[in-house]
Amino acid sequence: PDIDDVKTVFDFEYICSKILPKKTWYYYSSGAEDEFSLRENHNVYHRVQFRPKVLVDVSDVSTECEMLGEKRAVPFFVCATALAALGNESGELGIAEGCAKGDFTIPQMISTLSSKSLGEITSSRKNNQDQWFQLYVNTDRTRALDLVKEAESSGCSAIFITVDAPSLGNREKDVKLPGKGKKVNGVSKGLSTFIDPSLDWEDVKYIKTQTKLPVFIKGIQRKEDALTAAKDGFNILLSNHGGRQLDHTVPPLQTLSEVVPLLKENGFKPGKDLEVFIDGGVRRGNDILKALALGATGVGLGRPILYSNSAYGADGVQKCKEILRDELAMNMRLLGVTKLDQLNESFVDIEGMKMK
Ligand code: FNR
Repeated sequence: PDIDDVKTVFDFEYICSKILPKKTWYYYSSGAEDEFSLRENHNVYHRVQFRPKVLVDVSDVSTECEMLGEKRAVPFFVCATALAALGNESGELGIAEGCAKGDFTIPQMISTLSSKSLGEITSSRKNNQDQWFQLYVNTDRTRALDLVKEAESSGCSAIFITVDAPSLGNREKDVKLPGKGKKVNGVSKGLSTFIDPSLDWEDVKYIKTQTKLPVFIKGIQRKEDALTAAKDGFNILLSNHGGRQLDHTVPPLQTLSEVVPLLKENGFKPGKDLEVFIDGGVRRGNDILKALALGATGVGLGRPILYSNSAYGADGVQKCKEILRDELAMNMRLLGVTKLDQLNESFVDIEGMKMK
C-alpha cells in the first residue's frame, strides 16, 4: 500500500505480515513459548483507563520533555533490535535516517547484533540526533569493553546493558522454521552463543566504571532489582525484551507502577536522579501517556520501528514517529494536559490493571 494509506502503528505490522519472507516475519514477530507476555505487554495498556480533566485551556499543547538532561521533542525512542536488514536492506541506516528526518528527531538505540557495523551507523548521524549503544556482554570481556569504548568514541551518548538474555528465549515460531543448510534452526539461536550467562551485578558495576556515559540496565522486571540498580547509580529500562525471553512475566507497565513508588520512598526522583524508561507493547500515543502518568521518563519502541523500516525504509520510520507524536498531542488535549510534566497518577485508573 501507499505510505499515505498508513494511519496507525498497527498498519505497519499488518503490512509486514503480508510482505516479509516467512523467516524474517517469524523472527521479528515471535515471542517466547505461549507468547503470553508478548500479548500482555500491549493488552495491559487496555486495562488502564484515563481520568480526563476538563475545562483546561488546551489551545497550546507541547509534547516536549527531557531525557538524560536534554530537551526532546517527544518522550519516546527506538529500542535496540537485531538484524534490521532482514526486513529492509537499509537496515539500521534506514532507521537512523528515519529517526533524523522531518521536523523532530528521536534517539536510536543501536543493537550489538545490528546488521550494519557500529561505525557505519554512527557515521550516518544527522541533525544532532542521539544514538545510544545496547551491549550484550560477551564471554570475552575485553570484547565487551572494546565495544563500549567504540560506542563512546563514535559519539553514542548512553550505554544500555541488556540483562534479560543470559540465554535466548524459546521462540518456537522462529525455531521451528528450518534453517537452510545450517546446523542451527531459526534466526535467533545462531546469534546467542557469545552472551555470558555468568553476568552479575559486580560485572555491570565494573563496566560502568569503564565509561563516562550514563549506563542503563535493560531488562529489569522486579522492583527490588530496580532499587538495587538505582542505588548502584544506574538508569533503568523496564523491559521483558518484547516478550521474547521468559514467558509469563509481569508486563513492564505493571512493574513500573510498583517501581516508581519504591524508588520515591527511597529518595530517588525519576527524571532527576535517574531515568526510568519502559518498553514493550507500546503502539499508541495513549500507551505513552499512560506510562508517563505512572512515572516513566521515556518510552521505547521495538517492533513498530522494525516494521515501519521493513515496509517503507526511512520514510516509514518517519511516519511511525509522526503518527505517535500526533496521537500524543491530540490525546493530551482530550486528557486536559498541555505539558507532559503535568501528568501524574491522578490521570489514570489502574485498579483493573492486574490480571484477575
Ligand atoms: C529485540 N530486542 C532486543 N533487545 C536487545 O537488547 N538487543 C537486541 O539485539 C534485541 N533484538 C531484538 C530483535 C527483535 C526482532 C525484537 C522484536 C526485539 C528487544 C527490544 O529492544 C525491546 O525490548 C522490545 O522489542 C520492546 O517491545 P516491542 O516494542 O517490540 O513490543
